[in-house]
Amino acid sequence: MNETIHQSIATVQIALTNGIPSDDADFLSQFYQFDKNADWQLTLTDTDSYCLTQLSTKLSLNLDFRQGNYRYRQQAIGKEPLLNAVKIQKKLPKTLIDATPGVLKDSFMLANRGIQITAIERNPLLYIMVRKALSHINSNTNSLTNSIIIDYHFGDAKDLLPNFHADIIYLDPMYPAKRKSAQVKKEMQILHQVIGTDSDSDDLFHIAKQQSTRLVIKRPSYATPIADSKPSFSYSTDKRGATRFDIYLP
Ligand SMILES: C[S@@+](CC[C@H](N)C(=O)[O-])C[C@H]1O[C@@H](n2cnc3c(N)ncnc32)[C@H](O)[C@@H]1O
Repeated sequence: MNETIHQSIATVQIALTNGIPSDDADFLSQFYQFDKNADWQLTLTDTDSYCLTQLSTKLSLNLDFRQGNYRYRQQAIGKEPLLNAVKIQKKLPKTLIDATPGVLKDSFMLANRGIQITAIERNPLLYIMVRKALSHINSNTNSLTNSIIIDYHFGDAKDLLPNFHADIIYLDPMYPAKRKSAQVKKEMQILHQVIGTDSDSDDLFHIAKQQSTRLVIKRPSYATPIADSKPSFSYSTDKRGATRFDIYLP
């Protein structure tokens, strides 16, 4: 499995600061070179979340589901276009596989609506950051997040998808940014550098298509459909019209 993962991830060197648990360090050492002077630094914060910082640009990503955007999306939930895109006959599905979970924003929002999520992430850095963030959900009694179910796995969804079944398979692969990077959200700038472009997303789509399940694919509105495959229908979009959801019926 590691060979497939190596081919898919961007080559970055990272510095681990003190306090990173040895099992996470051992896991990362299979995929990355450590260098204490590296531009990318992984830190464990005082509140036990992982923070990834790029020293040269001062970009940083602190992954904590108890804060910020995640809580905002829980509260603003009625306005989420993705909720409409995943509905089947006007009802939310019971189960969904997120085969491109990233920093889990979409899955987390869906899980907060009671959808049982299976998520499969192949980027080792994101995987340990998200796994740490998930570990706090049930222990945080003041959060709105107590009832969420996210079954989180490490691996390439192209290999693992056939092992799972759900009402919906959801894909949101990285797509080359259209605008200059300075205008792209900070978080996306980091993801573009650490993850790359998911250039095998057409292959993932074809494997997902074989699962006889409804597929929902998030695309930038300017992008052609994934694998140039015409969707059964499309659902647009947020207020700024930046995103489109293409839906493929089984
Ligand atoms: C654009 S991000 C997804 C963002 C996500 N929807 C969110 O709300 O945070 C794409 C993610 O999918 C992951 N990914 C892409 N192809 C994958 C595959 N074949 N298997 C597992 N993960 C994959 C990438 O590593 C990356 O983390």
